[in-house]
Amino acid sequence: MGEYERWEGRYAAPDYIFGRAPNYFLAACRPLLPASGKALAVADGEGRNGVWLAEQGLSTLSIDFSPTAQKKAQALAAERGVSLRFELADVHAWPYPVDAYEVVAEIFTQFSDPEQRRAKWDGMKRALKQGGLLILQGYTPKQLDYGTGGPKQLDHLYTRELLEAEFAGWRDMRIVEEELEMHEGAAHSGKSAVIGFTALKP
Ligand SMILES: C[S@@+](CC[C@H](N)C(=O)[O-])C[C@H]1O[C@@H](n2cnc3c(N)ncnc32)[C@H](O)[C@@H]1O
Repeated sequence: MGEYERWEGRYAAPDYIFGRAPNYFLAACRPLLPASGKALAVADGEGRNGVWLAEQGLSTLSIDFSPTAQKKAQALAAERGVSLRFELADVHAWPYPVDAYEVVAEIFTQFSDPEQRRAKWDGMKRALKQGGLLILQGYTPKQLDYGTGGPKQLDHLYTRELLEAEFAGWRDMRIVEEELEMHEGAAHSGKSAVIGFTALKP
């Protein structure tokens, strides 16, 4: 089964498999957000993070390749009374615009192998305006011991060294490594090893 079919199958469940609340790390970044501007939510799935960014006053585009997830995201936006835009996109091949967004958020998108990640991160870097805020959260290699979500391939996971090298020269870089109990829907539940990252595009 391909990745597309796998995600479509997972999202066929009536529940929001990652919950309706925003990712805790993204929500904790609220003080860093600009009061207005444009946000891009990358591989945003059922929309919990994109909807929250729109609720913060940002003109938000939510991209993901799963039509089933985006239908649920649209329902979540309607339920919460916010509007945002949605586009079906392969985040490894999407034509990321140049200098277009004040905020780019990439939360749990470690389906990418290193080559795919290069294409995705190059695009995300391009899409941010100078001074724009990048917010990432992913699992670290320690997560392979916990098995409570995320990929099984070591080279898909994020480390401090990877992020520091990849975003060398970015301003106000903050990296938070945590092992904590996560309860973000049935799909991310239990003791987890995660890393969060914020920085401003130089
Ligand atoms: C672990 S989920 C995270 C969803 C969302 N970011 C969240 O935190 O709730 C990964 C998401 O990536 C999407 N996805 C996987 N491969 C993709 C690709 N090549 N292009 C776009 N979306 C993709 C899936 O449909 C799924 O929504």
